[in-house]
Amino acid sequence: VTPVPGFPAPTTHTQQVYSPFDTFTSRWTRADARQIKARSDPNVAVGANSMPTSVTMPDIPADFPQTNPDVWLWDTWTLIDAHANQFSYNGWEVIFALTADPNAGYTFDDRHVHARISYFYRRAGIPASARPRNGGWIYGGHLFPDGASVKVFGSTPLTNNAEWSGSTRLLKTDGNEVAVFYTALGFNRTAEGANIAPPVAIISKTNGRIHADLNHVWFTGFNNHTGLLQPDGTYYQTGQQNEFYSFRDPFTFEDPQNPGQTFMVFEGNTAGERGAKDCTAADLGYQAGDPNAEDLDTVQNSGATYQKANIGLAVSTDSSLTQWRFLPPLISANCVNDQTERPQVYIKDGKYYLFTISHRSTFAAGIDGPDGVYGFVGNGLRSDFEPLNWGSGLALGNPTDLNTAAGSDFDPDPQQNPRAFQAYSHYVMPNGLVESFIDTVEGRRGGALAPTVKIQISDATTQIDLSYGQNGLGGYGNIPANRYDLDWQGF
Ligand code: FRU
Repeated sequence: VTPVPGFPAPTTHTQQVYSPFDTFTSRWTRADARQIKARSDPNVAVGANSMPTSVTMPDIPADFPQTNPDVWLWDTWTLIDAHANQFSYNGWEVIFALTADPNAGYTFDDRHVHARISYFYRRAGIPASARPRNGGWIYGGHLFPDGASVKVFGSTPLTNNAEWSGSTRLLKTDGNEVAVFYTALGFNRTAEGANIAPPVAIISKTNGRIHADLNHVWFTGFNNHTGLLQPDGTYYQTGQQNEFYSFRDPFTFEDPQNPGQTFMVFEGNTAGERGAKDCTAADLGYQAGDPNAEDLDTVQNSGATYQKANIGLAVSTDSSLTQWRFLPPLISANCVNDQTERPQVYIKDGKYYLFTISHRSTFAAGIDGPDGVYGFVGNGLRSDFEPLNWGSGLALGNPTDLNTAAGSDFDPDPQQNPRAFQAYSHYVMPNGLVESFIDTVEGRRGGALAPTVKIQISDATTQIDLSYGQNGLGGYGNIPANRYDLDWQGF
């Protein structure tokens, strides 16, 4: 990659494979992440999109439909096998989403502490064009019985608890047992919302069964919830080290290069005291003599040390996927970004892609990029991952003007692109389809499924497919199965 004038060269990443059990952690460096701003057009009209079209999600219309007027939904996932194939069950497509009640007296921005996992379903095998405009998802209700998920906290004092993201596995494709991996969140807060104690995040599992007849889909079980992992403070930062730590969003899979093992990726932070000035020259990642390199001390003193995300890895040590052991992180983003959320492993043409979502607001001082999905490619699960697209990592961002103040979804900057927070929590599905939820379009808040888009994934590049749907926008919540469960006899 020839450096853009005024910007550094990205770090050299070989994509070389290491054993998943090795201690090598790849770095998303400052030199890499600065390639995002390098590709931003400094001369666009204020509030336009300054990023290349190829890495921008097309504009979502402001008259988007609600998925369901009685429920806000955000992070959404599908019913998958060990290889991220999406299964329908007895002719029904099923999705899982974090949800909250729009009529309970709190705002959309306060939804997180009230999050419950719910499920939705619709008939499989109907083209998006023949569905209702909102995708036609039927709300099935909360997935777990009331009071079940709080039990993983035992006697820990809490003021409330929530169910945060994860993934759902169909354990055998000729059966109906499912395992839900999710994040149990416990809060102990004053009425004003200040932490009395740091939030407690426990990556948890619960098993249940899916059922369906001609008219509906339902679940049984999910009464017993098992805590699987809490941060160790060695690889993964604890709440005691940083009350703003991230530890969540488990995604499990089998790796064809390491058969017989089940792995989990998740969102973590690099262990250590909050803000410790311990980023290294390797985290900056500049080539020797780069005239656009930064000085390490200057970076350490810039506030960038508060942003140290990682993508964690764990391996299951029993066949029921109840015992897990931490492995060193796959990627760190020290002094680059504080949140690498909802990571997933996506294998295509022998290449291993790690996709993760992140925010403009969580980039470290001196680094900028849009809200969206970021990606990295290597030759195996643990690799010297190369950030996609010019070495930047940006795969698909919201239309954003990086020359203008960010604002936020809850307090927009009037000069910023009114779609800078249009969608979030992108999940890359088979065939490059990408689903997400709508946050804010032209000031209208969402809590609904976004139009599905499609990216072309090839080697170290991705590109939005503008021939998909209408100018690149497919159906709202078009989340199709690519596999039918073997039980299905047809309606
Ligand atoms: C991403 C996210 C997840 C978390 C959930 C909480 O949108 O931050 O990391 O599980 O939202 O609502």
